[in-house]
Amino acid sequence: IKKIGVLTSGGDSPGMNAAIRSVVRTCAFHNIECIGIYRGYQGMIEGDFKEMGPRSVNNIVNKGGTILKSARSKEFMSPEGRKKAHDNLVKAEIDAFVVIGGDGSFTGALVFNKEFDFPVIGIPGTIDNDIFGTSHTLGYDTALNTVVEVIDKIRDTASSHNRLFFVEVMGRDAGHIALNAGIGAGAEEILIPEEDLGLERLVESLEKSKLTGKSSSIVVVAEGDKTGKNVFELKEYVEEHMPEYDVRVSVLGHMQRGGSPSCFDRVLASRLGVKAVESLLENKTNFMVGLINDKVALTPLEQAIKGHCEVDKELLRVSDIMSI
Ligand code: F6P
Repeated sequence: IKKIGVLTSGGDSPGMNAAIRSVVRTCAFHNIECIGIYRGYQGMIEGDFKEMGPRSVNNIVNKGGTILKSARSKEFMSPEGRKKAHDNLVKAEIDAFVVIGGDGSFTGALVFNKEFDFPVIGIPGTIDNDIFGTSHTLGYDTALNTVVEVIDKIRDTASSHNRLFFVEVMGRDAGHIALNAGIGAGAEEILIPEEDLGLERLVESLEKSKLTGKSSSIVVVAEGDKTGKNVFELKEYVEEHMPEYDVRVSVLGHMQRGGSPSCFDRVLASRLGVKAVESLLENKTNFMVGLINDKVALTPLEQAIKGHCEVDKELLRVSDIMSI
């Protein structure tokens, strides 16, 4: 392997730039050429490539977003699209690529590998932390810190006005962000997709906290939660059942994907980038590099996509005890 491509794909996450930097510099360290592929698989199809040397990634370790841009390419889902992408890689003499993204991006890499026997390695980059084979995906830690910081601010105003706030956080179908940021920010209740506690229980719990002297409350709701009601409908439900509450809703949205990566995410990105490049140089393919028991480890991409990254249900109990 003499030339490695690197791309970011799917939803961006803080730490992607630090991972690009790590891939580029590890290539330079091993005297391998590195090519940046812009806009994910779409840029691969369009041949949007740029050579990257160690100085081209100066001053990005601390930057959110991705200097390579990201996209969710529909065209790459078709055999014709992938053929164009392969032709471009061959033309540019790229021998392997590292894709930084989530499960959709890994599925694309696997299909591509099966069709063209092209070496690929994945680095998990998503704030959702929903990938099997790593305790942390890139950007998750930063997103948690962002959410906690914002809920702390919401708490100030909630407390001044004796209000109940429903705060919706991202995570797609996973409750990792809600559960961990909820505990970190001292939420009264946390609603996650993995456990439907029921609406009655929510009202009961809010009633109980009122009786024990709480005058304001924060309920963190994962965007994929399974109560069957979105945050605005939850607000209506609670207002109907507890008219004494003054309820507000805050949907945090894409701010959770931005910002300077935490030190944890920068270190993780640096470690995973080194392992990704060195794995390709050892002729390994179809693996994801991740963190298992604080050690960098490889998991077959197939397992990373299909395996279930469970939330720790013990955290629900911790949250219950904390909100007594
Ligand atoms: O996967 C990351 C994520 O931010 C999810 O948490 C969220 O459901 C989704 O992407 C939002 O996607 P988009 O950027 O297309 O709105």
